[in-house]
Amino acid sequence: MERTLSIVKPDGVKKNIIGEVIRRFESAGLRIAALKMIRLSMDEAKRFYIVHKDKPFYGSLTEFMSSGPVVVMVIEGKDAISKVRELMGDTNPQNAAPGTIRADFASDVEHNIVHGSDSPESAGFEIPYFFSAVEIC
Ligand code: RTP
Ligand code: MG
Repeated sequence: MERTLSIVKPDGVKKNIIGEVIRRFESAGLRIAALKMIRLSMDEAKRFYIVHKDKPFYGSLTEFMSSGPVVVMVIEGKDAISKVRELMGDTNPQNAAPGTIRADFASDVEHNIVHGSDSPESAGFEIPYFFSAVEIC
């Protein structure tokens, strides 16, 4: 069993596809272990994406992530980290495999609907960033 942190980003919430993203995770045999809707402040978005602090897109990414509500969730299952990444598709929707969430719904490399932890180390930082132990079922 593995846990990963996923986020329906502000564009996914605006496009009314929270349920569609969750359906794809559940249909792949993954389980939602925790879930909530929140609005990140700019500072909270900056600390979440701190690994990208030196990238040219850090400012616009964190502005985007704090531009509206997001749905954060803990996903659990066998190989959850790689399964969620596979269901998401490539960061750039133009390179994302057909049938992936980003290929189907993302508008560009920044506004790409969904986030998923990219490693056990990232999940270990990202899950407790949003959820305490008693909030994870
Ligand atoms: P994420 O962390 O959100 O799951 O996405 P990812 O692993 O596929 O991509 P990553 O390289 O970690 O980038 C984080 C997010 O930053 C935005 N981005 N913009 N303008 C650009 O070239 C660019 N590159 C990345 C995207 O929102 C990406 O998901
Ligand atoms: Mg990433």
